[in-house]
Amino acid sequence: MNRYIPYGKHYIEDDDIAEVVKVLKSDWLTTGPKVDEFENAVASFCESKYAVAVNSGTAALHAACFAAGISRGDEVIVTPMTFVASVNCVLYCNGIPVFIDVEENTLLINPSLIEQKITPKTKAIIAVDYAGQPCNYDALLYIAKKYNLVLISDACHSIGSVYKNKKTGSIADITVFSFHPVKHITTGEGGMILTNNMEYAQKCKVFRNHGITTDFKQREQMGTWFYEMTFLGYNYRITDFQCALGMSQLKKLPIWLRKRNYIASLYNEHFKDNFLIKPLELLPDRTHAFHLYVVKIDFKKIRITKSELFKMLRNKGIGVNVHYIPVHLHPYYINNLKTAKGLCPVAEKVYEEIITLPIFPQMNEDDVNYIANTLKEIVDKNIIT
Ligand SMILES: Cc1ncc(COP(=O)(O)O)c(C=O)c1O
Repeated sequence: MNRYIPYGKHYIEDDDIAEVVKVLKSDWLTTGPKVDEFENAVASFCESKYAVAVNSGTAALHAACFAAGISRGDEVIVTPMTFVASVNCVLYCNGIPVFIDVEENTLLINPSLIEQKITPKTKAIIAVDYAGQPCNYDALLYIAKKYNLVLISDACHSIGSVYKNKKTGSIADITVFSFHPVKHITTGEGGMILTNNMEYAQKCKVFRNHGITTDFKQREQMGTWFYEMTFLGYNYRITDFQCALGMSQLKKLPIWLRKRNYIASLYNEHFKDNFLIKPLELLPDRTHAFHLYVVKIDFKKIRITKSELFKMLRNKGIGVNVHYIPVHLHPYYINNLKTAKGLCPVAEKVYEEIITLPIFPQMNEDDVNYIANTLKEIVDKNIIT
């Protein structure tokens, strides 16, 4: 068995490379025209007013929390079923994450559990479009408005998805994307903040450049050396050649989204009558971007453990993964925030059951059949009778 199918994979073609080379031969390697171009293109794709490109999704989350005004002691509603960056960003601003459990069928944050955790210190909600499916934004927006909270959408999994006719990136107060190579489109490393609020956008722009109010290009154009740092920011700038890659990749996003949905539909067909392997629920009023394809396995009814199944699939060249270990169960959180098992029982239970199967646009039907059939065979062979 030589082939190995990873759970996600970038795809770079000659036209992508040509765009990067053009920038490498130009005068601006960083913070030049390609950054503006990429920002405008993503903002227009998402039907959002403003976009600020940064050098990772994590930097975008940090900037979003800063723009939302999160500071020492502020509480922020978060989900445990995500990559650690979605919660770490609260700690970067000295805020306090307040974990809210997820819905069992979708693994999206459960809006009905939020209000009971809101206090006078609550400042924001960070919702994650887990696997690529948009959250229940009507309910989240209602709560955010009622309690005067900033709604931040971590849409690192869901670029291009649509919730009730609204594109991801135009729904929440601030939305964040990642362009890491396993995501839908890549800039190597990279991220973006989307918002309709000019003040938030302006804050993020200054934040990505040390808190300095003008960037080098603007000073060159104005013929001045003078600059002022007005608050403590970071170097979260992205390069022009990364944005050239992003521009080129963005053109392919609609086709790649269709391909991801097609692959998911093939998997769904395989598992539709299977009582031990259950895909997550797809909600009817939104489209899914399928960054991840996740199934729940009923390990109580089979003889093998999740680790054993994981190893068996890896040995067959199938790059399965697990998304995610609930954030509140990481040692850092247990030791520093005194989180513990029992805090989010649904996320903890589902974590025992979930496994991520490979999905990326360049997979073909044979790949999907091979993965689904191998999984079904292993599970079938191990049913407890
Ligand atoms: C939900 C989510 N948020 C944030 C991030 C962080 O993005 P980046 O790796 O670009 O910093 C990721 C990346 O894996 C993610 O999956």
